[in-house]
Amino acid sequence: MVERTLAIIKPDAVQAKHSGMIINLIELNKFSIVRMEKINLSKERAEKFYEVHKERSFFQELVSYMTSGSVIVMALEKENAVKDWRDLVGATDPLKAAPGTIRKMFGTSIGNNATHGSDSIENAKVELKFFFPNL
Ligand code: RTP
Ligand code: MG
Repeated sequence: MVERTLAIIKPDAVQAKHSGMIINLIELNKFSIVRMEKINLSKERAEKFYEVHKERSFFQELVSYMTSGSVIVMALEKENAVKDWRDLVGATDPLKAAPGTIRKMFGTSIGNNATHGSDSIENAKVELKFFFPNL
C-alpha cells in the first residue's frame, strides 16, 4: 500500500551538513518527497511533538536537543513508507544500528541520532498533520 510518513533530519545532522547525503539516500531508496521544510522548533512545539516521552528521564535532554538548531521536516511517500523509512533510519542507538542505516552512518549517540521516523501508520498520520496540516 502506498503510504506517507514523517521524516525529520535532526539538528545534529543539519549542523554537520549531512542533510544532502540523507536526502540522497531517501531518493536512492525510492521515496518521493511530498513536502519538505527547514524550520526551528520552539520548546513548546518540541514538547508537544514528543509528548509520549514526557515522563521519560531523557525528555528535557530530548527537547533541548531538538530545539538546538534547525530541523528539516519531510513528508515521504512510497509503498510501505512507514516501515521502510524506519528500516533505513535504523536502531535508536547508532552503536546498535545495522550497517547501511542512516543512524549507523550519521548518528553520534542515542540522543543525537540524526533522523526521526514515525513508528506506525496511525502515528504517521498524526505527525504529518502536526507539521503539514494542509497535506
Ligand atoms: P524517533 O522517535 O526520534 O524516530 O526515535 P525512536 O523511535 O528510535 O526512539 P524513541 O524511543 O521514540 O525516542 C525518541 C528520541 O529520544 C531520544 N532518546 N534519548 N538518552 C536516551 O536514553 C534516549 N533515548 C531516546 C532519541 O533522540 C530518540 O530518537
Ligand atoms: Mg519514536
